[in-house]
Amino acid sequence: MAGAEAILKINNIEVKYHEVILVLKGVSIEVPRGGIVALLGANGAGKSTTLKAVSGLLKHEDGEVTDGSIEFMGERIDRLGPEKIAKKGIVQVIEGRRVFEHLTVEQNLKVGAHLRGGKSVKEGLEMVYNYFPRLREKRNETAGFVSGGEQQMTVVGRALMTNPKLVLLDEPSMGLAPLLIHEIFNIITRLNREENISILLVEQNAKLALNVAPHAYVMENGRIVMDDTAEKLRENPDIKDFYLGLTDVGGRKSFRDVKHYKRRKRWLT
Ligand SMILES: Nc1ncnc2c1ncn2[C@@H]1O[C@H](COP(=O)(O)OP(=O)(O)O)[C@@H](O)[C@H]1O
Ligand SMILES: [Mg+2]
Repeated sequence: MAGAEAILKINNIEVKYHEVILVLKGVSIEVPRGGIVALLGANGAGKSTTLKAVSGLLKHEDGEVTDGSIEFMGERIDRLGPEKIAKKGIVQVIEGRRVFEHLTVEQNLKVGAHLRGGKSVKEGLEMVYNYFPRLREKRNETAGFVSGGEQQMTVVGRALMTNPKLVLLDEPSMGLAPLLIHEIFNIITRLNREENISILLVEQNAKLALNVAPHAYVMENGRIVMDDTAEKLRENPDIKDFYLGLTDVGGRKSFRDVKHYKRRKRWLT
């Protein structure tokens, strides 16, 4: 990652919930300006916590960055509240595609416009409907009743309405059919290229993530255990074993178990 100018720098952060539960134990991640970076890891690794530390949403869950720092476009943001962070151009799409169920799709989108602005609401809607033609069709339907894929598009669209520089995307593929996942990931790639939006993408689906992100970090148990280009990670035997499921080491072990297993194997040979 050296060389590329970073829009986001997470510098060795430690995060605690309720002042006592230590969840992130020194995490460093860089997102280059205009880039897509993936953060991979099993359930409970601390991926969502990392995104919430950046967006400031951590504060709503009694979580705190207790060490290290976070810089956005050269400015420290880890002491700011979520509204101030949003105003700077960072938006988080939280996992589980939470729409406002009783509002229409279009009303959901308009909520995003109030968070930041820059573009007019009309311009924002046009842009979102241009990327997500399905949302234009469904704009007057109640968000709680459209399909899961359309809800996911709605929350991504709502994030776009804030006119962001950096989108923190938490498991956009979760629970969606492969065809829809493909459609959504295509649009994410286009948003990155055409709107120059930088993206930090959290995914459990490593295969998908490594297809769109040229660089990825692997997190386990509150620590980054590896980071490399997508190309190298795809070829890495541990990643193949654990995240890509290409070989049968046996069961879904932790990344570390796989490494230990490999080491043991080397001892034996
Ligand atoms: N609000 C919270 N209070 C206490 N512990 C939490 C809270 N949110 C998450 N955790 C804990 O932090 C760890 C990491 O969670 P999370 O960041 O959601 O992981 P991931 O997104 O990788 O699945 C888990 O052990 C989880 O139980
Ligand atoms: Mg999560």
